[in-house]
Amino acid sequence: MKDPIAFRAACDEARRSGATVGFVPTMGALHSGHLALVAEAKRKASFIVVSIFVNPTQFGPNEDFVHYPRDFVGDLQKLTDQGVDLVFAPEPSAMYPEGEQTRVKVHRLTDPLCGAFRPGHFEGVTTIVAKLFALSGPAVVVFGKKDYQQLAVLRKMVRDLFFPIDLIGHPIVREADGLAMSSRNVYLSADERARALGLSRGLRAAWSAFEGGERRTETLRALALREVHAVADRIDYVDVVDPVDLMPPGERIDGGGAGAKALVAIACHIGKTRLIDNVVLGED
Ligand code: PAJ
Repeated sequence: MKDPIAFRAACDEARRSGATVGFVPTMGALHSGHLALVAEAKRKASFIVVSIFVNPTQFGPNEDFVHYPRDFVGDLQKLTDQGVDLVFAPEPSAMYPEGEQTRVKVHRLTDPLCGAFRPGHFEGVTTIVAKLFALSGPAVVVFGKKDYQQLAVLRKMVRDLFFPIDLIGHPIVREADGLAMSSRNVYLSADERARALGLSRGLRAAWSAFEGGERRTETLRALALREVHAVADRIDYVDVVDPVDLMPPGERIDGGGAGAKALVAIACHIGKTRLIDNVVLGED
């Protein structure tokens, strides 16, 4: 389905017949990570909606909007196999019609990490997601923790704008060797694919040290950085931050207490491909 108004009508109709709408927004080129979100939505809701929309406003001028992987036919097949009830795949001109001038912006949470390297990116994300929420009126929405900051920013938006939505964060789905699944992985050559394992290796190093009792922020960061440094062509950041406000946690994580928690987040370039990954230390 391509038309926003018809999409809204179909979701209205599902609700009128007693269904709860579960929604998974995507940019397509679907992989098992996306499909895990769909499976989670199915556990929580009865009418499952997936959007496929490569959102132009969240790409910077030098980013990969034009070349972003697209496989609409393959995506549709995967979603049909998963028993999705409705797929919404609008044209950019339908989501951003002539004369539109509204943007949704979450402030402080979008400053660090990817926000510092992709100006305007999160404003594009919150704007399109707010539009998609307004059309679909979902009770439940599932996002991946792979895009940890995106999830945090969208949680803030849902709360601040009083969207009556249960927002669920799904764990990162990885390949058997540890690489976090991503639509952008198709860009990687064999050599780059091998080097990309440095991200999950770095996160594992920090995680193991943390599990072993290490609480010094800079030591944990250095463990991750060493692995990323060995493989990346360019590093945007390797940071250890508070998992809620995404701010620096101080010299030690929670003074070494049992409830200690921190997010280790990585963004780097391997060849022409920008990859991100993260782990939450101290998560139950
Ligand atoms: P996209 O990159 O297609 O991702 C869609 C959803 O799948 C996001 O919630 C993302 O976190 C999740 N996801 C991707 N890879 C994952 C993995 N390996 N494990 C678990 N979840 C994974 O994120 C976007 O699209 C866009 O910014 C969007 C929210 C659709 C707005 O345009």
